[in-house]
Amino acid sequence: MADQENQIQVAALCGSLRENSFTAAALRIALEGARQFGATTELIDLRDYNLPLHAGVTSSDDSSGDVRKLKRLAKAADALILGTPEYHGSFSGVLKNALDFLTFDEMEGKMIGLIGVSGGAMGAFDALNGLRSVGRALHAWVLPQQVTIAEAYKVFDGEGRISDRDLERRVRTVGSEAARFAHLHKCGRLREFLQIWETAPVNPGGG
Ligand SMILES: Cc1cc2nc3c(=O)[nH]c(=O)nc-3n(C[C@H](O)[C@H](O)[C@H](O)COP(=O)(O)O)c2cc1C
Repeated sequence: MADQENQIQVAALCGSLRENSFTAAALRIALEGARQFGATTELIDLRDYNLPLHAGVTSSDDSSGDVRKLKRLAKAADALILGTPEYHGSFSGVLKNALDFLTFDEMEGKMIGLIGVSGGAMGAFDALNGLRSVGRALHAWVLPQQVTIAEAYKVFDGEGRISDRDLERRVRTVGSEAARFAHLHKCGRLREFLQIWETAPVNPGGG
């Protein structure tokens, strides 16, 4: 559990602009998991941002107030959960555009959790694999735990909740694990690091 000195901040960046987005609903649940760990949380809803399309020139792009706000929130977060719908076998363009404004300055060494939703039965694995590559390119730590929610329209109720308790727990765990590993990364005390590491979830592939 995070103490005052090592307070963890977890932000979630939503790659869907759709009203009643399932991606946003999943991210809210993941952030609940982060708060259960003791983190403070923030959902970054790109509908509230007037981001320009990235024109490939970093310094002039930085002049937009909303770009600066996005960069400030991303930098302040110890962990960032990226949420995306699967769009044509990849992650959404709106998320890619937002990520293109982030640099090593905001992302290097940051814990990244991944959540994807899809309309189809195959899930959002291709979207998340693409985001994993983006995280690597930005020198972030992309956590192995991830969740894709297939046929999302069948999974969420009108309040954005998931009735499948196992799936709900796995979504929540993306948030709590992002907070836990951010804490480990931030924590200077080796003994505490090792104790928390040793209580990490059992490898599901282990005997
Ligand atoms: C442009 C576009 C492309 C899509 N491509 C796929 C796809 O390749 N595979 C799939 O399963 N669903 C696809 N979908 C469906 C979305 O993944 C699905 O509607 C999802 O719930 C949208 O996320 P949201 O509720 O957060 O907006 C696509 C939807 C759109 C708008």
